Amino acid sequence: MKPFTMIPKSVKKKIPDPIKKAIRKIYKSRLYRDIEKFKKNGTRFRPPLSDFPGIVRLETTTRCNLHCAHCPHSVLSKDKNFLGDMDKSLYFRAIDEIAKESPETIVRPFGGGEPLVRTDLAELIGYAKKKGIQKISINSNGTLLTKNRRAELIKSGLDHLEVSIDAATPDTYTKVRQADFFRKVVDYTIAFIDESKHFNRNNKITVSFVLQKDNYHELEDFKRFWKDKADNVTIRPYHQHGGFVDAHGNFIKNADSTYRHPCPYVWRGLIISIHGKVCFCESDWTAEHTVGDICHQSIKGIWQGPELHRLREQHIAGTFDHPLCNVCPDWQKIKWPGM
Ligand SMILES: C[S@@+](CC[C@H](N)C(=O)[O-])C[C@H]1O[C@@H](n2cnc3c(N)ncnc32)[C@H](O)[C@@H]1O
Ligand code: SF4
Ligand code: SF4
Repeated sequence: MKPFTMIPKSVKKKIPDPIKKAIRKIYKSRLYRDIEKFKKNGTRFRPPLSDFPGIVRLETTTRCNLHCAHCPHSVLSKDKNFLGDMDKSLYFRAIDEIAKESPETIVRPFGGGEPLVRTDLAELIGYAKKKGIQKISINSNGTLLTKNRRAELIKSGLDHLEVSIDAATPDTYTKVRQADFFRKVVDYTIAFIDESKHFNRNNKITVSFVLQKDNYHELEDFKRFWKDKADNVTIRPYHQHGGFVDAHGNFIKNADSTYRHPCPYVWRGLIISIHGKVCFCESDWTAEHTVGDICHQSIKGIWQGPELHRLREQHIAGTFDHPLCNVCPDWQKIKWPGM
């Protein structure tokens, strides 16, 4: 398919030139052409691999102050051994390597927990910014974004904040997020947006909505409310995270698909657990299927190492032998741009 064929002329006229240029570039890329062939006749394709991961998620904590209905944390946190924080020294070491090897890599200092329960979060972000990391992004449930914490985060240099809200009314919020914090989270998020503007910070704010059976009826209201307030409104499909959560939110049936594509996660980035174990998939909440350990290996070495090479080759060949990928309930929802 050629770029813009599905877009009416009147809309096309309004797209700014740099965005048009970026879209044309995607359509011209080898990856896009390979994806087109894949969709047409199932030809396997080899996604391009960068020298260093494009995204590194550093799990600063697994503690959380909520028990959302859709989140594996609510099940896993019953085991107290699951809960903990990453040592600052381990975090600093990881940042030092990323800053040296690839400062343009997006650093996401959060994992399977709520990053703001760490009172030193702004210090951790500030360290990475001082070292030259270009983009730092976190997801938060927003419940702890008080005036002081907002000021600290804005000052720290945080580039992107995604607040997970999942609802357009207090009732639905309470059903999905299992706590009565809707008004507080909305007010804190709007205050964060206003205060960022006040301090002339060029940060971006996203609000997100994980689509599930308890909230889908509020999707349009959610989009309408936030479209002129936040920089992005992100709607995410519900994932079962390798089976840690059941199918209760899976009300959209997977499309029948004969061809299974290589999973973008394996080419996109890494997740480093509180103990330094390196995972390739966000479904691996308990870090069981690790591909390395930054306590005695470099991030670059792990990214280019034999374990991930083997895994990528399985995805390219279409065998998906890895025990996590083999039974993955989510793969159809994780697509390459252009799919
Ligand atoms: C695990 S949370 C960690 C950060 C923070 N506690 C928060 O809620 O944003 C990261 C993101 O995963 C999303 N999430 C949790 N369970 C999910 C599921 N079953 N499917 C899709 N996204 C999910 C959350 O809504 C949130 O946006
Ligand atoms: S989605 Fe975030 S806030 Fe909710 S339980 Fe999971 S980690 Fe905690
Ligand atoms: S196929 Fe599934 S289990 Fe494998 S990396 Fe992708 S999301 Fe994770």
